[in-house]
Amino acid sequence: MNTKIDSTNPVKITDTTLRDAHQSLAATRMRTIDMEPIASKMNAVGFHSLEVWGGATFDVATRFLHEDPWERIKTLKKLMPDTPLQMLLRGQNLVGYRNYADDLCISFVQHSADSGVDIFRIFDALNDERNLKTTTDAVLAANKHAQLALCYSVTEEGCLGGDVYTLEYYVNKAKIFEDMGASSICIKDMAGLLSPYDAYNLIKALKESVNVPLQLHTHYTSGMASMTVLKAIEAGLDIVDTCLSPLALRTSQPAIEPLIVTLQGTERDTGFDLEKITPLNDYFEGLKDYLGPFLSNDRLAVIDTQVLSHQVPGGMISNLTSQLREAEALDRLPEVLEELPVTRKELGYPPLVTPTSQMVGVQSVNNVLFGRWNSITSQVKDYCFGLYGMSPKPIDKDVLEKALDGYERGTNPITIRPGDILEPELEKAKKDSSEFTKGLGDVLTYALYPVTGETFLKIKYGLQEKPEEPLPEPPSSMLPQAQSGNFSSRARDFNITIGNKQFQITVDPVGSQGSKTRSVSRILSQNVSNSLNGNEMLAEGEIALVAPMPGIIIREICKEGDSVKAGAEIIVLEAMKMENALTSPVSGIVKSINFKSGDKVSKGDMLVIIKEE
Ligand code: CO
Repeated sequence: MNTKIDSTNPVKITDTTLRDAHQSLAATRMRTIDMEPIASKMNAVGFHSLEVWGGATFDVATRFLHEDPWERIKTLKKLMPDTPLQMLLRGQNLVGYRNYADDLCISFVQHSADSGVDIFRIFDALNDERNLKTTTDAVLAANKHAQLALCYSVTEEGCLGGDVYTLEYYVNKAKIFEDMGASSICIKDMAGLLSPYDAYNLIKALKESVNVPLQLHTHYTSGMASMTVLKAIEAGLDIVDTCLSPLALRTSQPAIEPLIVTLQGTERDTGFDLEKITPLNDYFEGLKDYLGPFLSNDRLAVIDTQVLSHQVPGGMISNLTSQLREAEALDRLPEVLEELPVTRKELGYPPLVTPTSQMVGVQSVNNVLFGRWNSITSQVKDYCFGLYGMSPKPIDKDVLEKALDGYERGTNPITIRPGDILEPELEKAKKDSSEFTKGLGDVLTYALYPVTGETFLKIKYGLQEKPEEPLPEPPSSMLPQAQSGNFSSRARDFNITIGNKQFQITVDPVGSQGSKTRSVSRILSQNVSNSLNGNEMLAEGEIALVAPMPGIIIREICKEGDSVKAGAEIIVLEAMKMENALTSPVSGIVKSINFKSGDKVSKGDMLVIIKEE
C-alpha cells in the first residue's frame, strides 16, 4: 500500500501517543494491554498516521515488559485497520544500537511490513544517507511508505548555522533523500532545539528545494515546540507530529488540542473535532496509576530551560545521572556536563540521537571517571573505525589513534558504506537460536538483542523462569508535595560552567527502580561469591578484575586456564546499553570467571580472578 499524501491543506497529523510520547515521558512502559481498549477509537479519529512502534518500544518490550513486540504490531494492525501505522527505524541500526548487516535489515523491514507497519520513518544518527539505502529500498520494494528523516542538530551556537548544521546542509541532504526515492521527508528534532524562526526558514527552503511532503517531528523539551510547529505550518509544512494532551509537553510532543483550535477557520484547518479527542484523553488519564511511577516529573517546570542555553536535554542529564549514581559518583555530574560538548566535538559533532547520544553520553562519563579516552566503549571504537558511517566533521586525530589502538578490524578507518563490510548475519542467528525460536520474528528479536533477546525468548517458551519483578511503587514525584516543587532529601545542587556560561541545576535522583535493580544484583553477586567454594577471599598472588560499574555481562573473551597479558580485553560488560571491554589488570592465568553472559553485576563485583605470573 502506498499511503497517499495530499500536500495541500489541511495540516495532517501524526499521533505519537503510543510510541514517542510514552517513550519520552514514561520510559516506554505502556503495554499492549494498555493500548488495546482505546485502539479502535484512535483508529476512528482520522489521523494521517499513528506512530506505534520502533524506537525503544522493541527493546523495552523484550527487556522489561516480557511481551513480544511483533505481537504488539500485529494486534494494533487488527484493531486499527483504517489508519496507517508508523514506526521509527534507525536505518542500518534498525531498533538496536549498532549497524546490522544488509540481510538482517532487509528481513527486518519485510517482516515489519508483513506484521502491519505502513509508514517507515527512517533516520541515521549521523545523517549518513548511505546507511538509509538498504532499508529504504526494502520499504519501497514492500510497496510501503519510506519517510526519510533528517536529524536536526546544532553546534555550540545553538541555532541553525555554525560550522556543520547550516541551511545548505539540510537542503542538500533533503535533495539526496528525494533522489533516493523518499516518499516524504521529516525533520526530526529530537531535543526540541529547532526554534520557531529557524523552523520557518528551514521549511521554506526545503519546500523550495524538494517536491515530496514535509513532516515535522519535534519535542516540547525547551518550550518552543508549539511556536515552532506554527511557524513551520506558516512556511508550508504538510504534516506534523503531536500527541494527546495527557502524554504531551515536557520532553514529549506538543499537544494536539491547542493546535486544532489555533488552526480552526484558517486555510490550514485540520478538520478535527475536539469532541472526539476528549474521551481519548480520559482513557489515558486513567493510566496514571500504572504509568505514574515511571514519570520523571519531579520539577514544577514542564520545560527544560537548560536546553535553551547549553543544549543538553533533560533526558540525557537523567541518563548521565543514573549512570553516575550507579557508579556511586553522582558528585561528578558537573564535570561530565562540561566534558560532553568536548567529547562530542572530538568525535566530529555527531547529532545526539540514539545510538550516538548514548555513545557520547557514556563516553563522557567514562572520560571523567577513568581519565580522558582511557576506557573507550566498543561502540565508540566501531564509530571511529567508520562502522556507523561518516561523522559530520573529522574525528580528532589523537582520539582516533587511541580508539583504534589494537582494534580487531585494524587501525585504518573505512570510508565505504559500513554495510558493505558486514558479513551476513541472519543465517547464523537462525542457527544459534534454533533451540528457543519458532519463527522469523523470534530470530530477528534474537539477532537484534542476543543477550536480553535470548532471555526474553527462553521465558516466552517456558525454558527459563520469568524473574519475579516487584510492581513499581510510586516515587516521590507522585506525591503532591513533590509536584509543588519540593525536592527529596537526596536532591543536590550543582554549579556548572559550560564554555563561559554558568548554570545551577538541582538533581533529585528518582531512584526506586535503580535501587531495586541494585539490591537484586547485590543478592546475585553474593550468591556467586558463596558458590566460589570459599574462594571469595583472594589467595596470595591473585588479582581480581572488578566491575567498574553495574551492568550486564555480554560475553567472555577469555576462558579459565587462558594466559592473558596485562591490558588484554577479557570480558565485555554492557552498561547503559554501551559495551565496555574490560581489560586484565595484570599478566597471568585466568583462574576463574565468576559470571556468564546475561548475568547482572554490581559495581565492585569480582568478575574474573587472575593468578599473576
Ligand atoms: Co522523538
